[in-house]
Amino acid sequence: MSMNTPASPETTPIGTVLIDRTEISSRIAELAGEIDAAYASLESPLILLSVLKGSILFLADLARSLTVPVELEFIAVRSYEGTQSTGSVELVKDVSMPLRDRDVLMIEDIVDTGTTIAFLHEHIRRHAPRSVRLASLLNKESRREKSVTVDYVGFDIPDRFVIGYGLDYDGIYRNLPDIRVLDTDGD
Ligand code: IMP
Ligand code: MG
Repeated sequence: MSMNTPASPETTPIGTVLIDRTEISSRIAELAGEIDAAYASLESPLILLSVLKGSILFLADLARSLTVPVELEFIAVRSYEGTQSTGSVELVKDVSMPLRDRDVLMIEDIVDTGTTIAFLHEHIRRHAPRSVRLASLLNKESRREKSVTVDYVGFDIPDRFVIGYGLDYDGIYRNLPDIRVLDTDGD
């Protein structure tokens, strides 16, 4: 009776749903199948390298769908607003385990201009892993400025600002279970 009912994300909808939770989960199951097949003959567990913070919901669901042995690792970067064309990315938290001779799968929420991933790819290569690939839940190909290979793409999306399922606007909305377009055109 005195129990508070937390506001469900459903009661405070923002924007419009672009990809709903059932589409997300079935696509992740497909991706996991592809990744399991690609890494069927691992020498040691696959390292899922999550790029904080946006990728953690994707990481959590993908990791539980995989059957190959995995280890979880995290890295954090900060990119400077308004300086995307100069590709200004700073490492905030480096990996805390050796990657030498390991198979690494970077996990991202979204590849937009490609600046972040180009920086991380270069950085991770210096750790001398056996292989490095990238899985990104979302891909905004039309915004690309840097040439990057996204080995596993969840969904190709148009050039709209999206939130939810890990993606934020000013630090919030990451917990929304669906991916939504944050409407800014007032319609
Ligand atoms: P990039 O370096 O331009 O590829 O940007 C990648 C980063 O920008 C992502 O990891 C996100 O943090 C952020 N980002 C890009 N597009 C969106 C979006 O539509 N919603 C939320 N964050 C985004
Ligand atoms: Mg991010």
